[in-house]
Amino acid sequence: MTITIEQPHLDAIADRKVAGGGGGDNAAELVLDGGFVVPDSNAFGNAFRNYEAESERKETVEEFYRVNHINQTYDFVRRMREEYGRVDKTEMGIWECIELLNEFIDDSDPDLDMPQIEHLLQTAEAIRKDFPDEDWLHLTGLIHDLGKVLLHPSFGELPQWSVVGDTFPVGCAFDECNVHFKYFKENPDYLNPKLNTKFGAYSEGCGLDNVLMSWGHDDYMYLVAKENKTTLPSAGLFIIRYHSFYPLHKHGAYMHLMNDEDKENLKWLRVFNKYDLYSKSNERIDVEKVKPYYMSLIEKYFPAKLRW
Ligand SMILES: [Fe+2]
Ligand SMILES: [Fe+2]
Repeated sequence: MTITIEQPHLDAIADRKVAGGGGGDNAAELVLDGGFVVPDSNAFGNAFRNYEAESERKETVEEFYRVNHINQTYDFVRRMREEYGRVDKTEMGIWECIELLNEFIDDSDPDLDMPQIEHLLQTAEAIRKDFPDEDWLHLTGLIHDLGKVLLHPSFGELPQWSVVGDTFPVGCAFDECNVHFKYFKENPDYLNPKLNTKFGAYSEGCGLDNVLMSWGHDDYMYLVAKENKTTLPSAGLFIIRYHSFYPLHKHGAYMHLMNDEDKENLKWLRVFNKYDLYSKSNERIDVEKVKPYYMSLIEKYFPAKLRW
């Protein structure tokens, strides 16, 4: 597959990439994209998402958030959405994307020492067991992380800080419950009076659809699903776009921006997040056995080829 893309305007900030190469960058990812404290420990014996754990990863994770918080500005997000919202990079089916992701991300998640495909299928299968009738939720589990292809060279090989990690609204005041909040003080928007008040560029109850979120795999996959006219219900799209929005679903921050539909959808997101983390439990899945079921869901909710 050959994809040519215009480099999004990262030049100015390219030298601010997360410190540490290769494994170091990847190590941050696991903690950053997990879920929630449910099982006692992950495959490495540390608590899930335990930012205070004495861990070699801690410094990497803190450095990750420092760079993330400084660079995720309102303007940056607008430019990334414009660039990637065109979905003109390549065409491929959902399963093809799963395989692509699987090839280049395997031990990238700190809570996880198995291929991405198994995390996706574990999430989906765990949900399927408890909610057998909600097939849209099974598929949402399967595809929620596909936006991580942004890390792939063919998609511009975006730095980790603009692909994974907790997400938050830009264009209004950063809430103090955001992890490593102090680093927002170096974000140019922090001192911009148009963007640093409670509502900033938004208004009360405007709906999260109208709010720009820090750029990453969540918002990208949401754009891809919408642009390709998925028939997933709005709760599925909500889960895809906000599954890393921990300030909201863990701390209840930013509720003043939500509308009634968001509040309904948040209930499903809370259900989903339990499985996103729980499922990182090293239970093996027979991919070939479950694949036909998921192919039937893909066919039901998506076109055969999607524009990415
Ligand atoms: Fe994710
Ligand atoms: Fe996930």
